[in-house]
Amino acid sequence: MNSLIQDIATSTVYAFVELFVFALILLIGVGLITVLFMYVVDKTQTKHAIRRNYPVIGRFRYLFEELGEYFRQYFFAMDREEMPFNRSQRSWVYRAAKGVDTTTAFGSTRDIRGVGNVFFVSTPYPTLETDAVESAVVTIGPLAKTPYEAKSLFNISGMSYGAISKPAVRALSNGARMAGCWMNTGEGGLSPFHLEGGADIVFQIGTAKYGVRDEHGALSDEKLRAVAAHDQVKMFELKISQGAKPGKGGILPAAKVSKEIAEIRGIPAGESSISPNRHPEIDSIPALLDMIEHIRSVTGKPAGFKMVVGGYEWMDKLCRTIVERGIDRAPDFITIDSSDGGTGAAPPALMDYMGLPLSESLPAVANKLREYGLKERIKLIASGN
Ligand SMILES: Cc1cc2nc3c(=O)[nH]c(=O)nc-3n(C[C@H](O)[C@H](O)[C@H](O)COP(=O)(O)O)c2cc1C
Repeated sequence: MNSLIQDIATSTVYAFVELFVFALILLIGVGLITVLFMYVVDKTQTKHAIRRNYPVIGRFRYLFEELGEYFRQYFFAMDREEMPFNRSQRSWVYRAAKGVDTTTAFGSTRDIRGVGNVFFVSTPYPTLETDAVESAVVTIGPLAKTPYEAKSLFNISGMSYGAISKPAVRALSNGARMAGCWMNTGEGGLSPFHLEGGADIVFQIGTAKYGVRDEHGALSDEKLRAVAAHDQVKMFELKISQGAKPGKGGILPAAKVSKEIAEIRGIPAGESSISPNRHPEIDSIPALLDMIEHIRSVTGKPAGFKMVVGGYEWMDKLCRTIVERGIDRAPDFITIDSSDGGTGAAPPALMDYMGLPLSESLPAVANKLREYGLKERIKLIASGN
């Protein structure tokens, strides 16, 4: 009986070993055939030079390139190394958002010796809770039918619905209401999600005039009036240029142009939406100032423009023309964007090399406005750093 059990056990073990060896040979065989197949495909294809020169092994390059981003982030990048936000800043934001302790020990790890660093002036007598006061209200566009009383010095700069998602627009509009600041729509038009939170809104008019365009892509006064009819919409900002892509219009790939986004923007769904490099009807300073006056008179609300500064000569000409035309007709505000400003999509060459950073342009523009006596009349708004 015992020897029978032993025989059965031995033959079962043999069967398993055979099965294992067979599976192993099969696996190696399939592996070899796959490698051979990849080799032939890589050697004969004409799209990727790396794969043709280094068949099979060249494929790992794409994998490592993909993974490299994560490896660098977690293992190799120093706390202050990444741009535009480094690990130190990100972890501060994560902790603050979760309401956990944001304090750190020892000194700053930021390199404070570099040129162009921004510092805030400290007071010898820090405020106590009892000294705290609301920041002074800034009146923008005192000559518009409905001037805007801006309550917050810090606000949310333009990011279109489409470039950012629905939950992001919702979160920002609710956050803006809670913080008592305004939210700029960006060039993608006004969505119900911007209004939902109840915050003040600045409506941006980009070069494609999304949300306020007629069937030919020109500014529609009727649509402009309809947007201005929302109490929440407080001001209108004409975008001349943006730090991330001076001289280039907005880019929204076809995949992002859903039916809803197409309706909000006034464009066909499922087609890439490329806005013109500039407003076709604005090719001079008087044309720019006329357009801003027109927007203010149609909407009854303050109107200004946004740009990234390239050179200062143009600012001189602009200020001179404004003074000649009379400061009542001046733009109510100018938004200066920094060359390092963010975007939803832009060519890297424009991001990296065009326009001046804010640390240089903001003081220069402020001085220009002061020089021409326009500093009080035209409010300066800044974005980027
Ligand atoms: C996702 C995204 C979308 C943006 N869309 C717009 C836009 O539609 N219009 C615009 O003028 N600027 C746009 N910007 C640029 C910002 O308004 C702002 O000028 C820039 O990011 C620098 O300011 P910040 O420091 O407040 O981000 C966008 C930025 C990001 C990150």
